[in-house]
Amino acid sequence: MDPREWQRTANGQAFLVSTAQDVLPIEFVQEALDNPAVFWAKSSSVANTKTMLDNSCTLGLFKVQDGTHTPIGMARMVTDYVTLAYLTDVYVLEEYRAFGLGKWLISCCREIVQDMPHLRWMLLMTGNAQAERFYQRELGMEVMGTRADEHVVAMGARKAHIETAGAAGASHASRA
Ligand SMILES: CC(C)(COP(=O)(O)OP(=O)(O)OC[C@H]1O[C@@H](n2cnc3c(N)ncnc32)[C@H](O)[C@@H]1OP(=O)(O)O)[C@@H](O)C(=O)NCCC(=O)NCCS
Repeated sequence: MDPREWQRTANGQAFLVSTAQDVLPIEFVQEALDNPAVFWAKSSSVANTKTMLDNSCTLGLFKVQDGTHTPIGMARMVTDYVTLAYLTDVYVLEEYRAFGLGKWLISCCREIVQDMPHLRWMLLMTGNAQAERFYQRELGMEVMGTRADEHVVAMGARKAHIETAGAAGASHASRA
């Protein structure tokens, strides 16, 4: 898949989302996976993390300042780019939260899956009621199953539901 990019400003700062491979530093991903807020994950070796990223559509979120790109967030979809996308590891550094960047990352994911020609399901798992409402609103996700013992909910959406979800979408972003 050709890499895609989106740009926007938020809170008076410039940001970029990019799916280009090898742009998001492995160290950033490992730190994100070890952050207590990312309670479902745990980092592995550099080699395993590289394999994980090589086999995912990874969206890196960067702050852009004076020509430099500083990684501040990510989301990742495990996908065949045709029929299925599993969304995971959605993360924004704490100091950049509540600027609308998480919503923007998800709207970029929505654009990517909307271009998949025969998407059957977009899937995710979450253990957080706030996240459940968020994905319902932004991606048209519905709860498909619950593992009460692990406090985990599986959610999914068909293409038609994804298309009608998200009030503003990525419309305020420009595709580079
Ligand atoms: C979830 C997260 C990516 C949101 O990033 P953000 O840049 O603050 O998001 P936005 O500013 O675009 O706000 C979008 C929504 O995030 C939701 N949100 C806030 N904290 C959240 C959390 N811990 N889990 C899920 N959603 C959360 C809010 O409901 C908000 O919705 P609103 O528009 O009704 O206010 C960020 O809080 C984060 O990295 N949390 C830790 C990791 C995590 O919980 N990831 C998602 C797990 S499924």
